[in-house]
Amino acid sequence: MVTEAASTPKDPLPRRFGRYTLFDKIGEGGMARIYLARTRTELGGERVLVVKQILPLLSESGDFAQMLIDEAKLAASLLHGNIVQVIDLGREGDTLYIAMEYVEGFDLRELVRQCSKTKTPLPVEFSLFIVAETLRALDYAHRKKDEDGRPLGIVHRDVSPSNVLVSFEGEVKLCDFGIARAMNLEQVPQEDAIQGKAGYMSPEAAAGAALDGRADVFAVGIIAWELLAGRRLYRGEGGGPPSLEQAQAAVIPELPARQLAEEGALHAIVQRALVREPEQRYPSAQAMLRELEQYIQRAGLRASPLRLGEWMSAHFGGEILELRRMRQRAAKATEGGPLVQMSVAGMTVAPPKITVVGSPSPPPAAAAAAPGDEDRAALTPSPGASTRTPGAGRWALVALLLLVAAAVAFALR
Ligand SMILES: Nc1ncnc2c1ncn2[C@@H]1O[C@H](COP(=O)(O)OP(=O)(O)OP(=O)(O)O)[C@@H](O)[C@H]1O
Ligand SMILES: [Mg+2]
Repeated sequence: MVTEAASTPKDPLPRRFGRYTLFDKIGEGGMARIYLARTRTELGGERVLVVKQILPLLSESGDFAQMLIDEAKLAASLLHGNIVQVIDLGREGDTLYIAMEYVEGFDLRELVRQCSKTKTPLPVEFSLFIVAETLRALDYAHRKKDEDGRPLGIVHRDVSPSNVLVSFEGEVKLCDFGIARAMNLEQVPQEDAIQGKAGYMSPEAAAGAALDGRADVFAVGIIAWELLAGRRLYRGEGGGPPSLEQAQAAVIPELPARQLAEEGALHAIVQRALVREPEQRYPSAQAMLRELEQYIQRAGLRASPLRLGEWMSAHFGGEILELRRMRQRAAKATEGGPLVQMSVAGMTVAPPKITVVGSPSPPPAAAAAAPGDEDRAALTPSPGASTRTPGAGRWALVALLLLVAAAVAFALR
């Protein structure tokens, strides 16, 4: 389980950041901090979105910043239902940031953890749906052309479960297009660069060769293999993360039989995505998607966003969604004033101490854990996140007063 304080003395929340109010930290990785934020629209409405702040060291590097801006501009031109929409890109003080659509749900890494923790198998039709939707995003991005009809040559380069977001509405959205390219520019130490990355790398990426869309197809192949096998493809030595050598060698074990209709055909699709030589692989995401869709149809394994969303909400939605929303309301009520503890309907919510119920990046120690450990990692509310307290009624009153004050302040603006 990854527990983070939503607000710390160094990182107080809520706080203003340009045109945004950051109110919850949902992740922190090697290159960025991820916040939930609110902004006002021109007509006075409000929108919740995600602000990804690039860490200062990287923000300060001119080459990196330029590359990131170029890549993010390309990413912002991608308009597709399976791609997280980039809304804004800018610099606030010394900090580069990307604002994007908020996908309320889990990233695929976290979804798999939740399934493993609660011993809830992810139905195979949903696994195939997630793979197909990811391919749809890649097919669109790979074929994207500029205004003069020239191919833009977009390659994601970091297709991995943490960048595949699955919402409680059953949508599947790929995020972080192009960021890996900018990261490659940086002199990040080898060890850091491969930490958690080699597990989803194509052999050519691990060898540092030039990449095209087929590298992304290979990464989707790994995701498909793992969802079908129910385990990580590459296991690092001594329980550590997979190595670049493993990614280069690309030794792919047989998938276990699961008694699916025409299972051989499904395994053949995954195997073809995972061929070591790019020339022998599917030539495009579209080619793989076409065969996968035909298989899904023949095998009667069709799923839909509606059914995936219902399944997600039924198994993981209730408490998680309620906690997130309470925290959102708590932050809203305290905006502009001191952070206070609130209680709603008998549940105490202390903004500075609550477990992040998003899908935060694991801290380095967790990232280095064995895949099995990672799969077992749990995402549960911290003990302080949901407890009944004798003083709940008093806090509810305080909360109510704060809400009224906020509403009055808002009305007087
Ligand atoms: N638009 C978004 N909506 C909802 N959650 C998001 C969004 N973008 C990122 N997240 C969450 O924040 C987490 C951290 O994201 P971040 O991109 O910093 O790290 P990562 O995906 O683990 O690693 P990397 O992208 O470097 O491979 C994601 O795994 C995801 O759970
Ligand atoms: Mg990411």
